[in-house]
Amino acid sequence: MGQAPVVYGQSDRPPRGDYSRAQEDYTCAQDYAAYTEADHDTYRRLYARQKALLPGLASQAFIDALPSLGVEDRIPRFEDINQRLRQATGWEIVAVPGLIPEVPFFSLLANRKFPVTDWIRKPEEFDYVVEPDIFHDLFGHVPLLFNPVIADYVQRYGQGGLKAERLGACEMLSRLYWYTIEFGLIREQGEIRAYGAGILSSSGELQHAVTSPLPQRLPLSLERTMRTRYKIDTYQQTYFVIDDFQQLFDMTEGDFTPVYAALRGLPELAADARG
Ligand code: PHE
Ligand code: FE
Repeated sequence: MGQAPVVYGQSDRPPRGDYSRAQEDYTCAQDYAAYTEADHDTYRRLYARQKALLPGLASQAFIDALPSLGVEDRIPRFEDINQRLRQATGWEIVAVPGLIPEVPFFSLLANRKFPVTDWIRKPEEFDYVVEPDIFHDLFGHVPLLFNPVIADYVQRYGQGGLKAERLGACEMLSRLYWYTIEFGLIREQGEIRAYGAGILSSSGELQHAVTSPLPQRLPLSLERTMRTRYKIDTYQQTYFVIDDFQQLFDMTEGDFTPVYAALRGLPELAADARG
Protein backbone atom coordinates (compact mmCIF):
# COMPACT_ATOMS: atom_id res chain seq x y z
CA MET A 1 0.00 0.00 0.00
CA GLY A 2 1.88 3.04 -1.20
CA GLN A 3 -0.34 5.72 0.23
CA ALA A 4 -0.62 6.79 3.84
CA PRO A 5 -4.17 6.25 5.08
CA VAL A 6 -6.54 8.83 6.40
CA VAL A 7 -6.93 8.07 10.06
CA TYR A 8 -9.89 9.20 12.12
CA GLY A 9 -9.41 11.43 15.12
CA GLN A 10 -5.98 12.52 14.09
CA SER A 11 -4.64 15.90 13.10
CA ASP A 12 -3.63 16.92 9.59
CA ARG A 13 -0.15 15.61 10.37
CA PRO A 14 0.58 12.59 8.19
CA PRO A 15 1.01 9.35 10.17
CA ARG A 16 4.61 8.54 10.83
CA GLY A 17 4.88 4.87 9.91
CA ASP A 18 5.96 3.56 6.53
CA TYR A 19 2.74 2.26 5.00
CA SER A 20 4.49 1.04 1.85
CA ARG A 21 5.44 -2.04 3.96
CA ALA A 22 1.81 -2.93 4.60
CA GLN A 23 -0.39 -5.46 2.86
CA GLU A 24 -4.02 -4.91 1.84
CA ASP A 25 -5.22 -5.49 5.40
CA TYR A 26 -2.61 -3.02 6.71
CA THR A 27 -0.59 -5.68 8.49
CA CYS A 28 3.13 -6.10 7.91
CA ALA A 29 5.96 -8.22 9.23
CA GLN A 30 7.44 -7.06 12.54
CA ASP A 31 10.71 -5.57 11.34
CA TYR A 32 12.75 -6.99 14.20
CA ALA A 33 16.12 -6.41 12.54
CA ALA A 34 15.34 -2.69 12.30
CA TYR A 35 15.43 -2.19 16.08
CA THR A 36 18.66 -0.65 17.31
CA GLU A 37 20.19 -1.24 20.72
CA ALA A 38 18.93 2.25 21.60
CA ASP A 39 15.38 1.15 20.68
CA HIS A 40 15.63 -1.91 22.92
CA ASP A 41 16.95 0.31 25.68
CA THR A 42 14.02 2.72 25.30
CA TYR A 43 11.60 -0.19 25.63
CA ARG A 44 13.45 -1.56 28.68
CA ARG A 45 13.37 1.81 30.43
CA LEU A 46 9.71 2.49 29.59
CA TYR A 47 8.73 -0.97 30.82
CA ALA A 48 10.68 -0.67 34.08
CA ARG A 49 9.30 2.76 34.89
CA GLN A 50 5.73 1.81 34.15
CA LYS A 51 5.84 -1.54 35.95
CA ALA A 52 7.04 0.20 39.11
CA LEU A 53 4.05 2.57 39.01
CA LEU A 54 1.37 -0.11 38.75
CA PRO A 55 0.81 -1.23 42.39
CA GLY A 56 -2.19 0.56 43.86
CA LEU A 57 -3.08 2.19 40.52
CA ALA A 58 -3.53 -0.59 37.95
CA SER A 59 -6.20 -3.27 37.91
CA GLN A 60 -4.99 -6.47 39.56
CA ALA A 61 -6.10 -8.39 36.48
CA PHE A 62 -3.68 -6.29 34.45
CA ILE A 63 -0.81 -6.68 36.93
CA ASP A 64 -1.31 -10.43 36.98
CA ALA A 65 -1.38 -10.66 33.17
CA LEU A 66 1.62 -8.43 32.49
CA PRO A 67 4.28 -11.18 32.76
CA SER A 68 2.57 -12.89 29.81
CA LEU A 69 4.36 -10.36 27.59
CA GLY A 70 7.60 -12.23 28.29
CA VAL A 71 10.89 -10.35 28.06
CA GLU A 72 11.07 -7.00 29.84
CA ASP A 73 14.53 -5.87 28.92
CA ARG A 74 14.15 -5.69 25.15
CA ILE A 75 11.43 -5.42 22.52
CA PRO A 76 9.63 -8.78 22.38
CA ARG A 77 9.13 -10.75 19.23
CA PHE A 78 5.41 -10.82 18.42
CA GLU A 79 5.67 -14.50 17.53
CA ASP A 80 6.82 -15.33 21.07
CA ILE A 81 3.87 -13.51 22.60
CA ASN A 82 1.52 -15.17 20.14
CA GLN A 83 2.49 -18.67 21.22
CA ARG A 84 1.11 -17.87 24.68
CA LEU A 85 -1.74 -15.63 23.56
CA ARG A 86 -3.23 -18.10 21.07
CA GLN A 87 -3.17 -20.70 23.78
CA ALA A 88 -4.82 -18.43 26.35
CA THR A 89 -7.65 -16.80 24.40
CA GLY A 90 -7.23 -17.54 20.70
CA TRP A 91 -6.08 -13.96 20.04
CA GLU A 92 -2.92 -13.01 18.19
CA ILE A 93 -1.11 -9.76 17.64
CA VAL A 94 -0.19 -8.57 14.16
CA ALA A 95 2.29 -5.86 13.25
CA VAL A 96 1.10 -2.64 11.56
CA PRO A 97 3.02 0.49 10.51
CA GLY A 98 0.91 2.69 12.80
CA LEU A 99 -2.71 3.82 13.10
CA ILE A 100 -4.96 2.25 10.51
CA PRO A 101 -8.40 3.25 9.19
CA GLU A 102 -11.53 2.11 10.95
CA VAL A 103 -12.80 -0.66 8.69
CA PRO A 104 -9.53 -2.64 8.54
CA PHE A 105 -9.13 -2.04 12.28
CA PHE A 106 -12.59 -3.41 13.04
CA SER A 107 -12.03 -6.37 10.67
CA LEU A 108 -8.82 -7.38 12.44
CA LEU A 109 -10.48 -7.20 15.86
CA ALA A 110 -13.50 -9.16 14.64
CA ASN A 111 -11.01 -11.90 13.68
CA ARG A 112 -9.24 -11.79 17.06
CA LYS A 113 -6.17 -10.09 15.62
CA PHE A 114 -4.90 -7.07 17.52
CA PRO A 115 -2.84 -4.59 15.49
CA VAL A 116 0.38 -3.52 17.22
CA THR A 117 2.50 -0.69 15.85
CA ASP A 118 6.02 -2.05 15.41
CA TRP A 119 8.12 1.11 15.78
CA ILE A 120 9.20 2.66 19.05
CA ARG A 121 9.35 6.31 20.10
CA LYS A 122 12.59 8.29 20.03
CA PRO A 123 14.40 8.89 23.35
CA GLU A 124 13.29 12.55 23.30
CA GLU A 125 9.66 11.31 23.23
CA PHE A 126 10.16 9.17 26.33
CA ASP A 127 7.34 10.81 28.31
CA TYR A 128 4.94 11.57 25.51
CA VAL A 129 4.49 10.41 21.94
CA VAL A 130 1.69 11.77 19.77
CA GLU A 131 0.85 8.48 18.04
CA PRO A 132 0.60 5.05 19.64
CA ASP A 133 3.92 3.19 19.40
CA ILE A 134 4.89 -0.37 20.23
CA PHE A 135 5.14 0.40 23.93
CA HIS A 136 1.61 1.76 24.17
CA ASP A 137 0.19 -1.05 22.08
CA LEU A 138 2.02 -3.93 23.76
CA PHE A 139 2.20 -2.82 27.36
CA GLY A 140 -1.17 -1.07 27.36
CA HIS A 141 -3.35 -3.41 25.34
CA VAL A 142 -1.93 -6.89 25.11
CA PRO A 143 -1.93 -8.10 28.77
CA LEU A 144 -5.73 -7.89 29.04
CA LEU A 145 -6.17 -9.80 25.78
CA PHE A 146 -5.08 -12.75 27.94
CA ASN A 147 -8.28 -12.19 29.97
CA PRO A 148 -11.17 -14.21 28.49
CA VAL A 149 -13.87 -11.60 29.14
CA ILE A 150 -11.89 -8.70 27.67
CA ALA A 151 -10.79 -10.94 24.79
CA ASP A 152 -14.44 -11.53 23.87
CA TYR A 153 -15.38 -7.89 24.45
CA VAL A 154 -12.75 -6.61 22.03
CA GLN A 155 -13.76 -9.09 19.34
CA ARG A 156 -17.39 -8.10 19.71
CA TYR A 157 -16.38 -4.46 19.54
CA GLY A 158 -14.77 -5.19 16.17
CA GLN A 159 -17.92 -6.89 14.92
CA GLY A 160 -19.99 -4.00 16.27
CA GLY A 161 -17.64 -1.59 14.49
CA LEU A 162 -18.33 -3.16 11.11
CA LYS A 163 -22.03 -2.74 11.79
CA ALA A 164 -21.58 0.82 13.05
CA GLU A 165 -19.76 1.61 9.82
CA ARG A 166 -22.84 0.57 7.84
CA LEU A 167 -25.04 2.64 10.15
CA GLY A 168 -22.81 5.71 10.06
CA ALA A 169 -22.30 5.41 13.82
CA CYS A 170 -18.53 4.93 14.08
CA GLU A 171 -17.99 8.13 15.97
CA MET A 172 -20.41 7.10 18.71
CA LEU A 173 -18.97 3.61 18.93
CA SER A 174 -15.37 4.78 18.99
CA ARG A 175 -16.14 6.90 22.04
CA LEU A 176 -17.09 3.71 23.84
CA TYR A 177 -13.70 2.22 22.92
CA TRP A 178 -11.97 5.38 24.06
CA TYR A 179 -13.67 5.47 27.45
CA THR A 180 -13.31 1.73 28.12
CA ILE A 181 -10.39 0.02 26.34
CA GLU A 182 -8.26 3.16 26.25
CA PHE A 183 -9.23 5.11 29.38
CA GLY A 184 -11.40 2.82 31.47
CA LEU A 185 -11.38 2.65 35.27
CA ILE A 186 -12.59 -0.28 37.37
CA ARG A 187 -13.58 -0.64 41.01
CA GLU A 188 -11.67 -3.40 42.79
CA GLN A 189 -12.35 -4.02 46.50
CA GLY A 190 -13.89 -0.57 46.70
CA GLU A 191 -10.85 1.18 45.20
CA ILE A 192 -10.51 2.81 41.79
CA ARG A 193 -7.97 1.17 39.49
CA ALA A 194 -7.06 1.63 35.82
CA TYR A 195 -7.58 -0.96 33.10
CA GLY A 196 -7.48 1.30 30.00
CA ALA A 197 -4.38 1.08 27.82
CA GLY A 198 -3.98 4.83 27.39
CA ILE A 199 -3.77 5.22 31.15
CA LEU A 200 -1.63 2.16 31.84
CA SER A 201 1.01 3.09 29.29
CA SER A 202 1.30 6.71 30.49
CA SER A 203 3.42 7.55 33.50
CA GLY A 204 1.63 10.84 34.11
CA GLU A 205 -1.96 9.88 33.41
CA LEU A 206 -1.89 6.75 35.58
CA GLN A 207 -1.60 8.84 38.71
CA HIS A 208 -3.97 11.52 37.40
CA ALA A 209 -6.72 9.12 36.37
CA VAL A 210 -6.76 7.15 39.60
CA THR A 211 -5.93 9.67 42.31
CA SER A 212 -6.33 13.27 41.14
CA PRO A 213 -9.33 15.21 42.52
CA LEU A 214 -9.64 17.09 39.20
CA PRO A 215 -11.29 14.65 36.76
CA GLN A 216 -14.81 13.39 37.28
CA ARG A 217 -15.38 9.65 37.52
CA LEU A 218 -18.83 8.47 36.46
CA PRO A 219 -20.31 4.99 36.44
CA LEU A 220 -20.17 3.61 32.91
CA SER A 221 -23.28 4.36 30.87
CA LEU A 222 -23.49 3.48 27.19
CA GLU A 223 -25.48 6.56 26.31
CA ARG A 224 -23.29 8.92 28.33
CA THR A 225 -20.01 7.64 26.84
CA MET A 226 -21.30 7.60 23.28
CA ARG A 227 -22.36 11.23 23.55
CA THR A 228 -19.11 12.45 25.05
CA ARG A 229 -16.35 13.91 22.91
CA TYR A 230 -12.76 13.24 23.92
CA LYS A 231 -9.41 14.96 23.79
CA ILE A 232 -6.48 13.07 22.36
CA ASP A 233 -3.74 15.43 23.53
CA THR A 234 -4.49 16.10 27.22
CA TYR A 235 -5.29 13.97 30.24
CA GLN A 236 -8.97 13.03 30.28
CA GLN A 237 -11.34 15.19 32.30
CA THR A 238 -13.98 12.47 32.54
CA TYR A 239 -13.47 8.77 33.20
CA PHE A 240 -16.05 6.00 33.36
CA VAL A 241 -15.89 3.32 36.03
CA ILE A 242 -17.02 -0.30 35.75
CA ASP A 243 -17.58 -2.81 38.58
CA ASP A 244 -16.01 -5.71 36.72
CA PHE A 245 -15.28 -6.85 33.18
CA GLN A 246 -18.43 -8.93 33.02
CA GLN A 247 -20.50 -5.77 33.51
CA LEU A 248 -18.79 -4.23 30.49
CA PHE A 249 -19.53 -7.32 28.45
CA ASP A 250 -23.17 -7.51 29.56
CA MET A 251 -23.86 -3.82 28.98
CA THR A 252 -22.66 -4.02 25.39
CA GLU A 253 -24.28 -7.32 24.52
CA GLY A 254 -27.49 -5.98 22.93
CA ASP A 255 -27.94 -4.58 19.44
CA PHE A 256 -26.80 -0.94 19.38
CA THR A 257 -28.96 0.01 16.39
CA PRO A 258 -31.75 1.55 18.52
CA VAL A 259 -29.20 3.16 20.85
CA TYR A 260 -27.58 4.94 17.93
CA ALA A 261 -30.97 6.05 16.63
CA ALA A 262 -31.94 7.51 20.00
CA LEU A 263 -28.61 9.27 20.45
CA ARG A 264 -28.77 11.00 17.09
CA GLY A 265 -31.53 13.16 18.54
CA LEU A 266 -29.43 14.28 21.52
CA PRO A 267 -26.67 16.88 21.69
CA GLU A 268 -23.07 15.78 22.13
CA LEU A 269 -21.36 16.48 25.42
CA ALA A 270 -17.99 18.15 25.88
CA ALA A 271 -15.11 16.14 27.32
CA ASP A 272 -15.45 18.07 30.57
CA ALA A 273 -19.26 18.22 30.77
CA ARG A 274 -20.31 17.57 34.36
CA GLY A 275 -22.67 14.86 35.56
N1 PHE B 1 -23.53 -4.93 20.77
C1 PHE B 1 -22.96 -3.93 19.90
C2 PHE B 1 -23.82 -3.72 18.63
O1 PHE B 1 -24.81 -4.32 18.43
C3 PHE B 1 -21.55 -4.31 19.49
C4 PHE B 1 -20.56 -4.19 20.58
C5 PHE B 1 -20.17 -5.26 21.36
C6 PHE B 1 -19.96 -2.97 20.82
C7 PHE B 1 -19.23 -5.13 22.33
C8 PHE B 1 -19.03 -2.82 21.81
C9 PHE B 1 -18.64 -3.92 22.56
O2 PHE B 1 -23.47 -2.91 17.83
FE1 FE C 1 -4.50 2.25 22.19
